[in-house]
Amino acid sequence: MRVETIVVPDPGPGEALVKVQACGVCHTDLHYKQGGINDDFPFLLGHEAAGVVEAVGEGVTEIAPGDFVILNWRAVCGQCRACLRGRPQYCFATHNARQKMTLADGGRELTPALGIGAFAEKTLVAAGQCTKVDPAVSPAVAGLLGCGVMAGIGAAINTGGVGRGDSVAVIGCGGVGDAAIVGARLAGAARIIAVDIDGRKLEKAREMGATHTVNSRETDPVAAVRELTGGFGADVVIEAVGRPETYEQAFYARDLAGTVVLVGVPTPEMKLELPLLDVFGRGGALKSSWYGDCLPSRDFPMLVDLHLQGRIDLGAFVTETIGLDDVEKAFARMHEGDVLRSVVLL
Ligand code: APR
Ligand code: ZN
Ligand code: ZN
Repeated sequence: MRVETIVVPDPGPGEALVKVQACGVCHTDLHYKQGGINDDFPFLLGHEAAGVVEAVGEGVTEIAPGDFVILNWRAVCGQCRACLRGRPQYCFATHNARQKMTLADGGRELTPALGIGAFAEKTLVAAGQCTKVDPAVSPAVAGLLGCGVMAGIGAAINTGGVGRGDSVAVIGCGGVGDAAIVGARLAGAARIIAVDIDGRKLEKAREMGATHTVNSRETDPVAAVRELTGGFGADVVIEAVGRPETYEQAFYARDLAGTVVLVGVPTPEMKLELPLLDVFGRGGALKSSWYGDCLPSRDFPMLVDLHLQGRIDLGAFVTETIGLDDVEKAFARMHEGDVLRSVVLL
């Protein structure tokens, strides 16, 4: 990683220039850096961001200079078959800014991470990637809603449809899993079982709202979840690791007719093998959660408001705030499992 001078074009039609105030360091940035997403180097990393709109291009009416916004990486098109059927959270044609940001030295085009690129003082995005929220929230907290925290909360409340009185198990309690715990609690889950192989993560999960914890390095998590749910399994199990073995645990830790939500992102070589008879016989739903199946315009302002009212504590996800030069160190800390989120302040 290097800090470089870049050229950010003035916003064209449908685009917005955003002065970034804070941007979280996410695993996906590391995946980009390692070439795990694509080979379109050089990347402009950073995508969990909040800031202030500085300028907008022609035809942009939904936001204006001075607005405090959270950036999202799924600006919906309004015209694809999902949007037209009233399911914009599944939009199959999300978009980014058309113009490219470039390196000042040599002019090479940059590929912004998830179409955002916010480890930068300013970034160019599509206007639809900006969601206006209450500026009373701190930018470091707000930015996290742009990716991991929204993915986790949405996995529980949108994809999993957790309701009052439900039992919920969350496998993998990093930033995403902990956010799923916050979401489950918000939705009124009666029992929230956190599963992880790291005792430190389980302690944190309890602070976030888990009512029970299971260390799956020491205990069989399927048996433990069943034991904690009257012998049956949880109504909703959220897999926030993205591995076949944890998916299988999620599958069997769920009650009959329950729901499994996969929000952890697997890698291409991973394969899942399950008895098809169990898939049929156990019924219910096996779902994937894209970005928490969120609709930024609906979910970001609502979650910011609940945070400002003290009904959820999104501040607990910010482990440390750092400078732009410290992202490499933050990747190392992430690898060690020391942090939920390091957030770059600009
Ligand atoms: N069983 C249980 N927990 C596990 C296991 C396992 N086999 N392997 C790892 N974990 C735990 C880790 O201890 C850690 O607490 O899963 C958690 C993963 O957390 P992070 O590494 O902080 O990742 P996070 O940002 O939460 O993202 C989780 O969601 O969006 C995706 O790409 C993201 O796949 C990733 C997942
Ligand atoms: Zn992310
Ligand atoms: Zn669409």
